[in-house]
Amino acid sequence: MKFFIDTANLQEIEEAQALGILDGVTTNPSLMAREGIKGKENIYKHYKAICQIVDDNVSAEVVATDYEGMINEGLELAEIDQKIVVKVPLIEAGIKAIRYLSDKNIRTNATLVFSPGQALLAAKAGATYVSPFIGRLDDISESGVELIRQILAIYSNYDFDTQVLAASIRHTRHIIDCALAGADVATCPLSAIKGLLKHPLTDIGLEKFLADYRKSQA
Ligand code: E4P
Repeated sequence: MKFFIDTANLQEIEEAQALGILDGVTTNPSLMAREGIKGKENIYKHYKAICQIVDDNVSAEVVATDYEGMINEGLELAEIDQKIVVKVPLIEAGIKAIRYLSDKNIRTNATLVFSPGQALLAAKAGATYVSPFIGRLDDISESGVELIRQILAIYSNYDFDTQVLAASIRHTRHIIDCALAGADVATCPLSAIKGLLKHPLTDIGLEKFLADYRKSQA
């Protein structure tokens, strides 16, 4: 399972990279706006800065919604760095743009995916990654993890190469549920990744080991 961090915050990306378990980063226009990055030039510089921190897989999202605009933006984003994966919303123009970019060997991430049918089209178009938004489905009382299972079953029926990237992860339990379902990737907030480390018995056990060590050295 690959771990991506879902943020445009450079400090958080550095912190996750330092853990030695990070495989990539996903961003979106909302996450870029949260960091106060304004204007195309600054946004592209920010993507470059992210690429300089991590080893690979930096998802950069197009903001055009028409086919021509999406492919032009996709080509520009791919020029920033070899680590860029062009993130494209799963609308009609987006499917065509994914086909175009994947035919040019540019990696793509089909985003805003909420149904198995959308995921099937993403795979048919040659997307490198498909991003089902599990948290946003849970928010409307549907099961995000069930969607992951359905997409994995469909992809396995036909041996599609598209990797299932569980997105919109809200907490640590989501990561475990996605791992149990067999998701290829989880993109997570740093807090959810660090939550995997936490268990009270680890803290209690360590405290006891250190107390016994100190006693033995007295
Ligand atoms: C990642 O690719 C998505 O943009 C992100 O996970 C969306 O998460 P949210 O539902 O918390 O905004």
